[in-house]
Amino acid sequence: MVTAGFQLAYHAVAPDGSPGTEPEPGSAAAPAAILALMHPEQAAINGWSGAAPFWEKHRELIRLMFAPVTQALVEDGMIGSRQAVLDIATGPGEPALSVAAVAGPEGKVFGIDPVPEMVAAARRAADRLGFRNTQFDAAFADRLPFPADTFDAVISRFGAMFFPSPADAVREMLRVLKPGRKLALAAWHFAERNPFLYTVQQVIRRYVDSPPPAADAMDSFRFASPGKLRDVLGEAGAMTPAERLLQFTIEAPVSVEDFWTMRCEISDTLREKIAMLSREQVTEVKRQALEALRAYSTERGMSFPAEVLIVSGTKSRPA
Ligand SMILES: C[S@@+](CC[C@H](N)C(=O)[O-])C[C@H]1O[C@@H](n2cnc3c(N)ncnc32)[C@H](O)[C@@H]1O
Repeated sequence: MVTAGFQLAYHAVAPDGSPGTEPEPGSAAAPAAILALMHPEQAAINGWSGAAPFWEKHRELIRLMFAPVTQALVEDGMIGSRQAVLDIATGPGEPALSVAAVAGPEGKVFGIDPVPEMVAAARRAADRLGFRNTQFDAAFADRLPFPADTFDAVISRFGAMFFPSPADAVREMLRVLKPGRKLALAAWHFAERNPFLYTVQQVIRRYVDSPPPAADAMDSFRFASPGKLRDVLGEAGAMTPAERLLQFTIEAPVSVEDFWTMRCEISDTLREKIAMLSREQVTEVKRQALEALRAYSTERGMSFPAEVLIVSGTKSRPA
């Protein structure tokens, strides 16, 4: 499905860097089958398959809650109309679909995610919303199926922390960017600054042993330390790597109870931990979580202070 003014070739790359098999254009199944065979980190993303139906179910709420982060990526990625933009780790299509409205009918937004269920959800959303300038395919961040010098901007919202090798992924982003253009990534700042994630985690920790993650574990707070992701950009060859702290409010127009349901459903880790509890413990965890979450309940719904790092860099121009 390519309807805007230009078309990109689907450019498969084998693990050794040689050209791989060309999949059927627009097919998630073909690249997914190839990825399963060729990518050793396939197991690491399997958890996202289980979460995909819930990310699709709560898609509109997620879009709304993180709209300020999308806006920051649009600004720092210098995204405007008629541009070709790549959204990596797009999940069920965000921020790709919001950015497609900015790029306009003469622009084009590609979204990639290695989880076929996420890709299918993104395609359904694009169809339902009538977007004709988007395309979604299955791919890993460190093997982008696009030719060099293709995009005016590359973005990823809450994706980089889950890449097995973030530096390899950034090198790929720089390869597919046009010279002089920007990549912009969003990563969570420290847990204590983000009660949206932290509040329920804290309660569950009272019941399920939750040792601190290893230093570079692929979890939400992997890049919480200021400078860590910016240094990855520098190491991967981005020019003028920069970072800013985005302080905003996550507005979720839902009840405390509906927030609890959504929060548990979209997190594979929370669902796994809750599954380890007895029925009585689940009732007690829920009671305590609702009590803690009430601190963020307003007459408009849930409202959380939030902090995210927006990290950006530029692809160098040839000398
Ligand atoms: C927290 S979700 C973010 C989804 C979306 N960008 C958003 O902000 O709503 C993380 C996404 O990263 C994807 N992901 C995990 N490992 C990846 C990898 N190696 N390359 C690209 N995406 C990956 C998951 O499938 C999942 O959809």
